[in-house]
Amino acid sequence: MARELAGKRVILTGATGGIGRATADALVKAGARVVLAARKPDALDDLAGKLRQAGGDVIVAPADVTVPDDRRRLVDAAVAAFGGLDILLNNAGVGSWGHFATSTEDIVRRVMEVNFFGPVELTRLALPHLTTGVDPCVVNVTSMCGRKGMPAWPEYSASKFALVGMSEAWRAEFARFDVDVLTIVPGMTDSGFQQNWLRVEGKADLRFDKGMTPADVAAGIVGAIRANRTETVLGSEARRLLRFNRFFPRLTNWLIARKVKKLYAAQAASGG
Ligand SMILES: NC(=O)c1ccc[n+]([C@@H]2O[C@H](COP(=O)([O-])OP(=O)(O)OC[C@H]3O[C@@H](n4cnc5c(N)ncnc54)[C@H](OP(=O)(O)O)[C@@H]3O)[C@@H](O)[C@H]2O)c1
Repeated sequence: MARELAGKRVILTGATGGIGRATADALVKAGARVVLAARKPDALDDLAGKLRQAGGDVIVAPADVTVPDDRRRLVDAAVAAFGGLDILLNNAGVGSWGHFATSTEDIVRRVMEVNFFGPVELTRLALPHLTTGVDPCVVNVTSMCGRKGMPAWPEYSASKFALVGMSEAWRAEFARFDVDVLTIVPGMTDSGFQQNWLRVEGKADLRFDKGMTPADVAAGIVGAIRANRTETVLGSEARRLLRFNRFFPRLTNWLIARKVKKLYAAQAASGG
């Protein structure tokens, strides 16, 4: 099925982030009507102003996806403004970079709240409206860490694996409502994501500047929605890693563990 985006009523969480802004722009250009959601009202107003200047039909709904009343207000705002809902795009997310040994329960719970429980409970509220929507779908932005657990990303990997798993189960369950469930699996993206991490303790040389642009990811998300593609891996690095891991899982694990040992041996040798 090819999905037409013109006129579709969309909730987009994480709208003010790097990937969110680019996705909002792409959705508006495709003619969708968009509820822009994130926590910071000023950033939302700024984005909405720019999109409206470009002819976009958008409203803002400040909401923290971890707060039940905010989630309810967000869905109510969409239905009040547009008379229903066709697409829920769960994009809000947070990262935490560092090993489990130096992590805390608070960090694990926080990451799970934003990346897993938030979108899950928002979907619960949105589902009754999606069932009466036009070509409806839920789109979950996960990560390549949701398909391959990565060192220094333990909480993040767990949260994204959880969302990938929930998406797979929903796909079969929601089929009886004709609501599609699409999973987006992006690799590294130069979005400013790292500015919002809960901690920055990892040791690898992460080169976000060599990653995809937010516009690349937005084009991938919009393309997946249009094509109704069940799972979309974005970025050549992510595609390569996940393919290699599928065919050579033991070798992949060995190579990754060797890299971790090297990084920490170098630190020990320098007295760190
Ligand atoms: N960048 C990458 O390399 C990469 C790779 C794979 C997957 N992803 C995923 O892509 C998605 C977008 O990430 P990004 O790169 O655009 O990151 P970003 O620039 O940090 O944007 C994150 C967005 O989420 C919102 N947000 C954070 N916590 C929230 C909360 N509790 N409630 C509501 N909104 C919240 C932020 O706005 P407020 O702070 O105003 O709330 C912001 O709009 C995330 O799910 C991320 O995990 C990113």
